[in-house]
Amino acid sequence: MYNKMLESIVTNHRFYRILGFTIVRQVIEKEEIHDLRSEVHNIFIDKKLTGSDMPVKIFLMSSKLTKIIFNKKIVNILKEIFGEPYVMLGYPQCVRNNFGSWHVDSGSEAMAPYLFSKKYGFAKCGIFLQSNNSKHGGSIRIRWFSHLLVYNRLPLPIRYIFQKLYSWLNFLLNHTVKLNAGDFIVFDSRLEHASEIPDGVKISDLEYGYLPQPHEHSKYVIYWDSCNVWSEKDFSINIMKRALMEYLSPNVNGFFPYLDSLSRSFPADFPADFVNDVNINNICIPTLKGEKLIKIKNLYTYVLKNNDSHKEFICNEK
Ligand SMILES: [Fe+2]
Repeated sequence: MYNKMLESIVTNHRFYRILGFTIVRQVIEKEEIHDLRSEVHNIFIDKKLTGSDMPVKIFLMSSKLTKIIFNKKIVNILKEIFGEPYVMLGYPQCVRNNFGSWHVDSGSEAMAPYLFSKKYGFAKCGIFLQSNNSKHGGSIRIRWFSHLLVYNRLPLPIRYIFQKLYSWLNFLLNHTVKLNAGDFIVFDSRLEHASEIPDGVKISDLEYGYLPQPHEHSKYVIYWDSCNVWSEKDFSINIMKRALMEYLSPNVNGFFPYLDSLSRSFPADFPADFVNDVNINNICIPTLKGEKLIKIKNLYTYVLKNNDSHKEFICNEK
């Protein structure tokens, strides 16, 4: 009874603002899962990728992977949540066996005023290619209502007391979201979340959150960001900051997702099929133009040339 009620709430997008997330079950048919998992696995092997990340440019090369993002059920739910057109960010990517502890995706934005706005609409979208499994990990944990409890508009002293209470008691609000292979989840970037960690594994023991596992037990997730038109400007400023951070701090993997994304102009730097799907579905992909775009492209080229680990990656890519 309880499980049925919970299921009907978490899969009803009308509760998205209150819950901070919603799930769409089975956006990928069961028969397709095996094929997609093999596609992901083969790309990691063929490109000799050693960590958890599949860079944006490699992800975009696979039409099998990119077309799932434009699944009708997903597009419709995002339009209902964010309005039309909704904004999709230009860097969908696939990660494998990546495990993270509790955090919010908006963490780099500190306590920016827009995080407290009623109009806030910025979210992480994810398609999970395995079912929830405590032995190997594969799903996600959330803290109920954390996006509302921390980022509310109460007067500052009351909010402070509220936040203190919340940080002492937040373990009571932890919940494992039961995702099955082929499910889609969209969650508010202010919502606290963590990975479902395989039994007996400590995240602190993992290097950059990566835990190698055999293909049949690997966790594969396709992620991208979406937002409403109102949040797009804040997003663009924040992404610019993160791209500059990639330039300033040495990168361990040799991947620069923000510089890569910002140096892409739409439609010129995207595959034709992807552009077609974006246009058919009336989705907005904001990209830089003119002098700003040239500067970022130059910066990205400079960083690639001067990063040893990336040089290695370029060799592997061939
Ligand atoms: Fe996250």
